[in-house]
Amino acid sequence: MKLTKRVNEMQFSPIRRFNPMGKKAEAEGKKVYHLNIGQPDVETPECFMEAIRNYDSKVIAYAESQGIEPLRSAIVDYMKMYGMDYENEDIIVTMGGSEALTMTFLTILNPGEEVLVPEPFYTNYHTFAKCASGEVAPITTKVEDGYHYADRELIESSITDKTRAIVCLNPGNPTGNVLTKDEMKLICEIAKEHDLWILSDEVYREFAYDGREVTSFGMMKEYEDRIIIIDSVSKRFSACGARVGCAISKNKEFMQGMLKIAQGRLCIPTIDQVGATELFKLPKEYYAEVKAEYVGRRDAAYEELMKIPGVVCQKPGGAFYMTAKLPVDNVEDFLVYLLTEFEDKGETVMFAPAEGFYATPGLGKDEMRIAYVLNQTDMKRAVELIRLGLEAYLK
Ligand SMILES: Cc1ncc(COP(=O)(O)O)c(C=O)c1O
Repeated sequence: MKLTKRVNEMQFSPIRRFNPMGKKAEAEGKKVYHLNIGQPDVETPECFMEAIRNYDSKVIAYAESQGIEPLRSAIVDYMKMYGMDYENEDIIVTMGGSEALTMTFLTILNPGEEVLVPEPFYTNYHTFAKCASGEVAPITTKVEDGYHYADRELIESSITDKTRAIVCLNPGNPTGNVLTKDEMKLICEIAKEHDLWILSDEVYREFAYDGREVTSFGMMKEYEDRIIIIDSVSKRFSACGARVGCAISKNKEFMQGMLKIAQGRLCIPTIDQVGATELFKLPKEYYAEVKAEYVGRRDAAYEELMKIPGVVCQKPGGAFYMTAKLPVDNVEDFLVYLLTEFEDKGETVMFAPAEGFYATPGLGKDEMRIAYVLNQTDMKRAVELIRLGLEAYLK
């Protein structure tokens, strides 16, 4: 018996691949600071739990395939807060942003066709594209240039006759890059000229710092027919386990394609949708509070990181990740050392090696991604452990 070429070509998530080693270190009594996964420790707003506690039905029935109406209406109202004019029919609720991405690739890619994604990118895009027998074609960006990619020549030189979409992670994971409106306009113009979809992953929409505006491709009305937005409650509301996200588009044909797939998987969990509905009704102040918390975490982590000789890192403008070059040849070997040999006062730390966030072979070997998802004190200590570990490793 054989597996498909598709699945054989997939990778295990580099974010989760080292978990068994982390678990072993914990079983041996070490405290492990987890900077490897974007799982915030911020409390999920109480309104989610309250809605679920108040849920009272004799039967937990299937929901509509496109999502329950109160949730779709709440998302429409939330988008209005930023001046975007969507309707319920423009939204399909999915099992997190992850399912929205897989379904989108199944809808827009034939086998062998490509999506352009600025690298480094959220590593699971490899898997999402492969599910549709598609490929990720990278636009290579560099830490030294602040991961800038909104450049006509750079983007156009990567477009081939197999390209079907430009993907923007805005704000970016793992880069923290936040697009300006002018940059988004340029990307829209290029997409129009080459007849491409724009797939905008905006699961970190509000996490834009230092006076940067919250931007969304939903604001590019003139190009709305080619724009697909991916959203999720996971990060914005610290509700990763709720598994509720959505795809949003004004393109009716695309939405019909998505609906066929959505109907095939019937629906996503009804009760999580009930909780998520309340999250989208939270007032604007909620976002300001969460943003301030992440700015504090970022600054604490960055300050500590800058104490490490030989590190190359730009302070990220958004999301909650930092990618940094370390003065080692192979960051994976260093991580294994941290988890198996190193400890300081019974503690060690885990990050994600960045190689898996690139599509170009050989890139990212000396880079790590950290998620600044822990409180400031823990963030400082975790990055200090990277420094102490590095000192011991390089001896
Ligand atoms: C850029 C980006 N998109 C999508 C996702 C998927 O998130 P979820 O499926 O929890 O909504 C993540 C998760 O880390 C992400 O970082």
